[in-house]
Amino acid sequence: MKKKVLIVFAHPEPASLNRQLVDVAVQTLQQQGHEVMISDVYGMGWKAVFDEHDFPTRADPDRLYFVQESGHSYSSGRQVADIEAEQQKVLAADAVILQFPLWWYSMPAILKGWVDRVWAYGLAYGYQGAGNRYRYGDGAFKGKRALLSVTVGGPAVDFSPRGINGPLEQLLFPITHGTLFFPGMDVLPTHAIYGTARITAETVAAAKAAWRVRLEHLFEDAPIPFRPQNAGDYPDTHVLASHVAVGQSGLLAHVSHVEMARVPAGADA
Ligand SMILES: Cc1cc2nc3c(=O)[nH]c(=O)nc-3n(C[C@H](O)[C@H](O)[C@H](O)COP(=O)(O)O)c2cc1C
Repeated sequence: MKKKVLIVFAHPEPASLNRQLVDVAVQTLQQQGHEVMISDVYGMGWKAVFDEHDFPTRADPDRLYFVQESGHSYSSGRQVADIEAEQQKVLAADAVILQFPLWWYSMPAILKGWVDRVWAYGLAYGYQGAGNRYRYGDGAFKGKRALLSVTVGGPAVDFSPRGINGPLEQLLFPITHGTLFFPGMDVLPTHAIYGTARITAETVAAAKAAWRVRLEHLFEDAPIPFRPQNAGDYPDTHVLASHVAVGQSGLLAHVSHVEMARVPAGADA
């Protein structure tokens, strides 16, 4: 069935591996009959910094409270145009792909700035004016899929279960769990290409082929089994019940089976 896919990507260089992967994604998804929307954050000259200029009509002119002003702008229909346009794209999408190079264990600042500004109060958090009632599996983006496609300079072994950097899926938890699952998206296991610092033409070809296969299953693959807030594991909506994830604490306790220690699909040694 025809779906809409939004690709948000952060790389200014047309010849980069990241841009090549975006091209592969556009081609593969269109061949499958899907409609592709693009947010090229560098190309758009995206304003990465969330600041007072994002609130031309203030609820409180005396002191800037970001959450309050975000909610006020969103609910009163007075958001700045670039934020609103991106929200409309996300709302129209059945799946959102974030394509980026791993920079200091995370996404480039410009892409973080896309999230900071587009994920408004009332939409991505504080949904329906109900505080934290709808979060982690519930929210405005429920039913949408999300996928991180990440290029990584270091070798896969550095990100293996006992590797020196830690498993990539755990490093990316703030994005997969805290940013995408939070407003309700089903987040697929991260697609990673490792060893990009020393990549050869042959490896690039193999990486593109693996990416194509991954994209062909975008609407079939099982999401990371993050525990939803409102399905019983968190009786008070804050802390895991004592019978859940017994003996576990920390990030992995919020995944219903240990998925996050494995090397992501598409990993290339
Ligand atoms: C600012 C910066 C930070 C980086 N941080 C990491 C890192 O934390 N781990 C890693 O393995 N590679 C890191 N790298 C390497 C990039 O992941 C690598 O350059 C990128 O995947 C190559 O893709 P591209 O050709 O599309 O730019 C970093 C590179 C830059 C420029």
